[in-house]
Amino acid sequence: MRQKLYIDGEWVDGEDFIAINKPYGMEKFAEIANASPEQVKRAINAAKQAQKTMKTMTNLERARILNQISVRLQERKIEAAEVIAMESGKPFKHALAEIERTIETYQFGAEEAKRLIGEMIPMDAALTGRGRVGYTIKEPIGTIGAITPFNFPQNLVAHKVAPAIAAGNSIVLKPATQTALSALLLAEIINQTDLPAGAFNVVTGNGTLVGDILVKSEEVDMITFTGSTVVGKSILKNAGLKKVSLELGSNAGVIITDGNNLERIAERCVSGAFSNQGQVCISLQRIYVLESLYSDFIRVFHEKTRELIIGDPLSPDTDVSAMITPKEQSRALEWIEEAQQYGAELVSGGIIEEEVLQPTILVNVPKKARLSCQEIFAPVVMVNKVSTLEQAIEEINDSIYGLQAGIFTQKISEAFYAQSHLEVGGVIINDIPTYRVDQMPYGGVKESGNTKEGIKYSIDEMTQSKLVVWNNS
Ligand code: SIN
Repeated sequence: MRQKLYIDGEWVDGEDFIAINKPYGMEKFAEIANASPEQVKRAINAAKQAQKTMKTMTNLERARILNQISVRLQERKIEAAEVIAMESGKPFKHALAEIERTIETYQFGAEEAKRLIGEMIPMDAALTGRGRVGYTIKEPIGTIGAITPFNFPQNLVAHKVAPAIAAGNSIVLKPATQTALSALLLAEIINQTDLPAGAFNVVTGNGTLVGDILVKSEEVDMITFTGSTVVGKSILKNAGLKKVSLELGSNAGVIITDGNNLERIAERCVSGAFSNQGQVCISLQRIYVLESLYSDFIRVFHEKTRELIIGDPLSPDTDVSAMITPKEQSRALEWIEEAQQYGAELVSGGIIEEEVLQPTILVNVPKKARLSCQEIFAPVVMVNKVSTLEQAIEEINDSIYGLQAGIFTQKISEAFYAQSHLEVGGVIINDIPTYRVDQMPYGGVKESGNTKEGIKYSIDEMTQSKLVVWNNS
């Protein structure tokens, strides 16, 4: 029950501990080591030393290690999913789906490790380039500090670890405290692979203390962070000259102009809005429906929402369970009440029953409600009517965020219009903005971030190009 830190290939005792409770039931199930500043610095130093070995390894050797991780995770798939369900409250079936994605993420990492290539530079296109040959080679950035969130405790860790290893970097991982067990399970797996000791370290504990040391350390060459915009901005401010990759929040929206497939569309919207209790950066928070389809859509959407099974995350049938903490549930409830005070109508949910915030639908939500313009990160969705596609796009763009957006349409012209006018990092046509596979470029504009993840794209971020020029004249 008492967990250790993983530093330099060894399990290290903490000096003090943080108790972790299950989000559903609130029973205490673990104590996480609270790393001291010296322990964090030891992990950074171990990573720095190991990086020298990582740099000399071949692409094939690093690819094999990523395959080993993927194979061992496959062997421990059920256990890994149960850990996620217990520590984060993510319903087991969604936790299992996350592990299946994570296995693939490491496989993509293994494949991309074999494709680390630079480019030829056409030197003689310049007046003084005659007789020169130029090309770039990709080199690892060095030591990477990875700070990861609670909502995908394995797969969002994999989105840092797999590309870092593929590119020849070493890592110090600071996982979210609530979901540190998943990161420690990964450490057990990595401990059995051929990764050099020190190339992967896990330091758990106080987010501000550990995070601050990583962010400010001159020995760390890059920070990769997934989490809230507020924390992302503070990292940028404190990181000095090191590279910072940020994957931040959003209040993703979808537009519905297709009246022929409302059943299927409503099913997808239920999944987009309520999976993992809406605690997903691309969770569906805002739905804009053409006036003519509005009442039919709300009826079907409400019916499908009522079919969700609510309860214990470890039960195989559960669709929705408790949010990460009671405090977060109360905050979401406050936002729901605020929207109602501003005139929104509640169609379903809006209450906490048996410890779970029930899937909540609000309609006619005005702009000034936080639900309409900030990120709620909860099982809450708003549905507003619009007169035109242009109006729907303006509504979606009227946001500080821009991660992904979706449109359900039967018209190619509308899809093209949406593709060029939506101010987001990804446009999903005929599906929800919550759609993601792990090799696709993923990242937002505006306050949703400054980077693209998806293994190939993260590898670009985690490598630097070195130019080589030969003089043959
Ligand atoms: C996120 O919350 O940013 C990750 C979403 C996903 O990987 O599906």
